[in-house]
Amino acid sequence: MQTKIFTPDQIDQAAAKINQGELVSFPTETVYGLGADATNVSAVEKVYAAKGRPSDNPLIVHVADVATVEKYSLPLDEKVKKLIKQFWPGPLTIILKLKKDALSKKVTGGLETAAFRNPANDATISLIKEAGVPLVGPSANTSGKPSPTLAEHVYHDLNGKIAGILDAGPTKFGVESTVIDMSTDTPVILRPGAVTKEQLEEVIGEVEESGKKVTNDEIPKAPGMKYTHYSPNASVEIVDSDEDWDDVISFSQSQDHQVGILATDKILNKQNWPKNCVTFSLQNSINTASHLLFAGLRKFDLNPEIKTIFVQGFPDVGLGDAYMNRLSKSAGQKHFKKV
Ligand code: TXA
Ligand code: MG
Repeated sequence: MQTKIFTPDQIDQAAAKINQGELVSFPTETVYGLGADATNVSAVEKVYAAKGRPSDNPLIVHVADVATVEKYSLPLDEKVKKLIKQFWPGPLTIILKLKKDALSKKVTGGLETAAFRNPANDATISLIKEAGVPLVGPSANTSGKPSPTLAEHVYHDLNGKIAGILDAGPTKFGVESTVIDMSTDTPVILRPGAVTKEQLEEVIGEVEESGKKVTNDEIPKAPGMKYTHYSPNASVEIVDSDEDWDDVISFSQSQDHQVGILATDKILNKQNWPKNCVTFSLQNSINTASHLLFAGLRKFDLNPEIKTIFVQGFPDVGLGDAYMNRLSKSAGQKHFKKV
């Protein structure tokens, strides 16, 4: 299959592919998604096959309006309405109880709930409207690899396996949406993202956090949280403190392979990096670091000489919560020095 790149003025062609049951990757404000008609079971099955995704891992349903959510979900309660008013369109995915058999088991993974999201991206909202159906959309990467923040990342992983990619440039946030479960008595954050716990609590009061505490022997509430994620072929280690970089350099000098360094300019400019170190800048803040983390990991993954990657850690607050959640998974919880 030839994978076609669609520009935002070719949305009618991209929508036609969706309506034919084909897969089209779409941009969002978080990462690129792998789109299929959520009401077409055989199209949804193709999503799992293209990604190599375990079939018990449910998909997010992307909508252009709240009316589409209400078509499938039980009536929305006040807290859900407040979240929608405050954060949609935007990087918040809301898990809701469904009307009986409203969506295919291929979408829900057999759960009685589904995840809904209204992405803040004009091209994708037009695509959903033009296709006239909601779109399932996991991140458009090969399962286990870092999520794509550029159309070329999608092309690298899925060229030949999908009908097209709607290219609207780099995504804004670079980490996936916050997932909040509103089907339980107390709302629970299943995956931290660009909408923070503090922001959510300002709108609906107390929320619990489960996503970041998931360990291997626990059954996570978001089925996706139990799988390996964001993993380049090289070994990834988190560097927690600015003072540790001198030791990273000593370690790197003793290695006979190349070492990838993913850090802000402040760190990169301070040091004299040995010849076998390849650097990638996270620029200057947690915002730019979140935006660039997956792109950096992917860049290093293209270089087979790099066997170890050191990545700057950030405080676990605000957007840092989402950043550290993704980085910890990528590193398999490995911290430099603390091994
Ligand atoms: O930013 C994002 O959310 C991106 C863009 C493309 O929208 N999408 C994305 O999808 O990250 P995906 O499939 O990679 O992650 C969805 C997460 C998975 O961990 C999945 O297990 C969880 O949401 N999830 C989906 N439906 C669920 C449900 N009914 N109950 C609990 N967790 C659910
Ligand atoms: Mg994903």
